[in-house]
Amino acid sequence: MIEFSNGARVEFLTGSGALGYDGRGWWWEYPLRWLGILNPQEFTIVVKTLTLRPRKGNLRWYAPWRCVRLIPGGVVNAVGLTNPGIDWWIRVCYPRMQRMGLQTVVSVFPENEEEARAFAQKLRPLNLAAIELNASCPNVEHCEVDVVNHVRVIACALQEAGHPLIVKVGYDQPYVAIAQSLEGVAEAIHAINAVPWHLVFGAKPSPLARLGGGGVSGEPIRPFVREAIRRLRDSTRLPVIAGGGIYTLQDLHELWELGARAFSIGTLFLRAPWEPNRLVRAWRAYQVDETPSPTVTNSAGKQSNG
Ligand SMILES: Cc1cc2nc3c(=O)[nH]c(=O)nc-3n(C[C@H](O)[C@H](O)[C@H](O)COP(=O)(O)O)c2cc1C
Repeated sequence: MIEFSNGARVEFLTGSGALGYDGRGWWWEYPLRWLGILNPQEFTIVVKTLTLRPRKGNLRWYAPWRCVRLIPGGVVNAVGLTNPGIDWWIRVCYPRMQRMGLQTVVSVFPENEEEARAFAQKLRPLNLAAIELNASCPNVEHCEVDVVNHVRVIACALQEAGHPLIVKVGYDQPYVAIAQSLEGVAEAIHAINAVPWHLVFGAKPSPLARLGGGGVSGEPIRPFVREAIRRLRDSTRLPVIAGGGIYTLQDLHELWELGARAFSIGTLFLRAPWEPNRLVRAWRAYQVDETPSPTVTNSAGKQSNG
C-alpha cells in the first residue's frame, strides 16, 4: 500500500490500457463486470494513456489484431497511443468514473513542457488519486538526447496540476537515473512498461515486425520487472509500483520481497479477465494470515502499513 500526499491509498492498480478509458473494461469484458466477476472497484483505475490532442496510432476498433497479438504467456502490442484526446476523456469518461465511484489515475503523454502545462491546467479541477506520466511507451519515438532531464522537466510541469504524480518507466530507459532525479517531484515510480520485442526475443521475428516489433507484456517480461524493482529499491527512496507479468500470488510475493509496495495488473485482464479480482482477494487473505507487514514511508513522509 502506498499513501499519497492527498490521502489516496493505492495497492492494486490496473495497468494503463487494461480496462480502457473509464474502468468499465473493453466491450467483451462487460458481461463479466455485470456478473461481478470483474469488479473495477477493487482497483485504482489507471486509464489508457491520453495525449493532448486525439492521436490515430495503430489501433482500429474493427481490426485490433493488427497491433495486438497473443504470444505464449503474454501479449505483444504496437497500439502506438491511439486515443481520442484529453478533452474527450474529461467530457465523456471522467463524469462516468465519478458516478461509479472509481479511484482514478489519468495516464498522460505530453510531448513537451508546454503540453505538460496544458494538461496540468485541464486536470487541476478534477478529483483524481494521481496523474501517471507515461514516460516509456515502447511504440513511440522518444527524445534520446537527455531523457532524464526531459522526463524531469515534464514531471515538474505536470506538478502544477496539484495532484500526486506517478512516473511510469521502461526497461529500455535509464530508469534508475530517472527515478533519482524525480525524488521530491513524483510520489511513486511505476516499473515497467511493455518491453521492446528485441530486448525479450532478440533476433526472433515479431508478429508485429511491420510496426517496429511492438512491446511485450505478461510472463515473458517477469525477469525484467524483477531486475528493475531490485535496482530501484536499492537506489531510490520513491515508493515503487511493480507491474509486468503479475499473474499469481507468487508474483506478488516475490515483488513485495523485492521492495514493491503496490502492484499493477495489465495483460492478465486481457488473457483471463476473471482472474485479477481473485488474485486481489487471495493476496488480502494471504496477508491476513501472515505477520504484520513492515511500515513503509513514501516521499511525502506519510507512513502506511502494507
Ligand atoms: C494492448 C495494450 C495496451 C497498452 N496501452 C498502454 C498505454 O496506453 N499506456 C501505458 O502506460 N501502458 C500501456 N500498456 C502497458 C501496460 O499498462 C503494462 O504496463 C504492461 O503491459 C506490463 O504489465 P502486464 O505484463 O501486467 O501487462 C499496454 C499494454 C497492452 C498489452
